[in-house]
Amino acid sequence: MNFFAANRSAEDEGEAKWGRVRAEYPAQEPFLNLNNAAVSPPPTVVEEAVVDAYRFISRNPDYNMWSKLDAALPAIKRELAELIDCTPEEIALNRNSSEGLSTAIFGIPLSQGDQVLISPWDYPSVRAGWLQRQQREGIQVVNCAFDLMDSDDDIIEAYLGAMTPRTRVLQLTHMYHWNGRVVPVKRLCEMARERNIITVVDGAQTFAQMPVSFRELDCDFFVTSLHKWLGAPVGNGMLIVNERRIDRTWPLLAPFDQPAVHIDKFDHWNLGTYNSAIQAGIAPAIHFHKTIGAERMHARLRELTRYWIGLARDIPGFKLHTDIGTDSLAAISLFSIDNVDMKQLEGNLRVEHQVHVKYRKVEHMEGLRVSPHIYMLKRDLDAFVAALRNAALQ
Ligand SMILES: Cc1ncc(COP(=O)(O)O)c(C=O)c1O
Repeated sequence: MNFFAANRSAEDEGEAKWGRVRAEYPAQEPFLNLNNAAVSPPPTVVEEAVVDAYRFISRNPDYNMWSKLDAALPAIKRELAELIDCTPEEIALNRNSSEGLSTAIFGIPLSQGDQVLISPWDYPSVRAGWLQRQQREGIQVVNCAFDLMDSDDDIIEAYLGAMTPRTRVLQLTHMYHWNGRVVPVKRLCEMARERNIITVVDGAQTFAQMPVSFRELDCDFFVTSLHKWLGAPVGNGMLIVNERRIDRTWPLLAPFDQPAVHIDKFDHWNLGTYNSAIQAGIAPAIHFHKTIGAERMHARLRELTRYWIGLARDIPGFKLHTDIGTDSLAAISLFSIDNVDMKQLEGNLRVEHQVHVKYRKVEHMEGLRVSPHIYMLKRDLDAFVAALRNAALQ
């Protein structure tokens, strides 16, 4: 597959080229799918690899899963390591970000009175995990107060102001799923390292949606789901544990293989029986993703977001809760419309117009989250904005 000329940027590529990308995905029906931030459809080649592997497993499950299909896992880790710039020995494969985040949250040794810095915007299960440790073990969870529309410098100031000599862990979200805001994680991790603070980065929304380098971020834990922007089958996640942190972190489940050493102790084969067919879809997803590349993917998603917002802006009362001027903008944005019940609008769009977007409410922010994907064309977004205009003015 070669969708693009090597020397052209995404903005230079016509819709026709992206039409060829679209042809490689299963049709999205009955809804126009604008909630890809939750889970993305895999390209058809990935879907087929999973079905083939599933059939293969049924013929001789034990042998075909653990002796045959799993033989490909070291190579898969090498390819993932190359994509995100870490070593294969730092990668554990699991089911999703939630599992990886819980591994970090519950695996870092802490004592009563140790502080963990989180934010009101972190993923709800991440906040709940840390609060559970607070209840059970008497650690202190401290909320860092800032707004998702604040500048990078303001956010850094807020974290700096909240750090104390008792801060042991800094929980960060690379891109907030609420409105697509990317935070300056690299600078924050640097500040943390200078203070011997462990960093956990929730990268569920950034890996594969944009270029990410684990070595450049230099965090202790980076967690992501492979079924979001990489396009792997649903039920694939990746936990990266910095080599300096592996020995000192407890696994979530006591490992089958003892002694529990190296990255294996976090890996799926120590989490009980899993579905190797789902993992057989990772390699084709990586290969498909590479035909586009994270940089071109990011540029295209940013272009699509700016495109639909440009069309929708003149809807009376339209309000954006995402900064679309920033280079880190990608697929995710959040909007509301004055005097319109956004929850009801979400329902109307689905029932009356077959458009699927996501209602989100957190702190003072409320609206509809829109997240297109690279299999979408501008004409899909024309249809979305026409439906929105119609539904909003009803
Ligand atoms: C920022 C963020 N963290 C964590 C998660 C959890 O991902 P998963 O459901 O794949 O475990 C999500 C899912 O949307 C997310 O957006």
